[in-house]
Amino acid sequence: MQRLFDGYIRHLLEERRPTTLLEIGVHSGQNTLKLLEWCKSTGSQLTSLDPVEWVGCLPEELKRPYPGYQYKRGQKEFDNFKIAPPSIEIIFERGLDKYWTCKKLRSLDYLTSPEFTGFDMYLIDGDHNYYTVSNELKCIHAKISERSTILFNDVAGVWARKDLYYDPIFIPAEHRNSPKQGVLTAIEDFLASFGRRRLFWRIGCPYQFRILTKKHDGSASLPIRETANRPNESRTSTAHHCHDSRTSRQRAFAQKESGSFAWRAADRTCHQGREALGRVR
Ligand SMILES: C[S@@+](CC[C@H](N)C(=O)[O-])C[C@H]1O[C@@H](n2cnc3c(N)ncnc32)[C@H](O)[C@@H]1O
Repeated sequence: MQRLFDGYIRHLLEERRPTTLLEIGVHSGQNTLKLLEWCKSTGSQLTSLDPVEWVGCLPEELKRPYPGYQYKRGQKEFDNFKIAPPSIEIIFERGLDKYWTCKKLRSLDYLTSPEFTGFDMYLIDGDHNYYTVSNELKCIHAKISERSTILFNDVAGVWARKDLYYDPIFIPAEHRNSPKQGVLTAIEDFLASFGRRRLFWRIGCPYQFRILTKKHDGSASLPIRETANRPNESRTSTAHHCHDSRTSRQRAFAQKESGSFAWRAADRTCHQGREALGRVR
């Protein structure tokens, strides 16, 4: 998700101005550092969750993994794996921890605890499997508000329709390798479970990235809508009004990242319809 920060996430932050944010999946903290730099500029507060073990110049309680959690358990190359996260050291060096609460927990432990009372923005990039994402969404939905925005990574590519278990022992056996798999499948089933229009699913995003909002109020729009790959359509007014502050290098990267970086590419991947914003009924 950190690779999408400058091109997309920053614009969404500027638009929606969340005062509270929840990040699921930190890894080495590159996205976390960028989020916290933004939080500093607004006084917003970020909570991050990751059960992984860290090493380095960090507070002891932050290094410890969630009891029993083993990153990519069963994969030989990750035996005794620990992450050395320079970005997290920088967070402390720069005093950005003032805006940060980091919990060495799995998302569902936190989201089902009384401590979870809801956030303005969610960045979901943790355990990429049907069971976890479905339950994360159920918990988040129970506390959702008009201000809420949910950003997902890995809704395209290999984990869209296939489960990844960072540590399978934490996934109930009956939900491992079940017929329903993947991040995108979980999101689609969650949305399909609504009897009436309640959430808005934005698919006009680059490869691997989608946004869910409670209210379609014109906010959370993309920083720019690329129309280069849509020969029959003219540029939208949004495209004219939005200032695209990406450098040409960031644009080139986004282009590469997305394959063709357009609505059509997104449509083809997730079959969500023809419009940039899919209405959920
Ligand atoms: C893809 S990485 C996150 C990358 C990060 N968001 C970024 O943009 O740099 C996924 C992380 O999720 C963590 N993770 C796995 N299961 C999790 C869970 N149930 N809750 C929270 N984090 C989890 C893993 O330990 C791993 O560090």
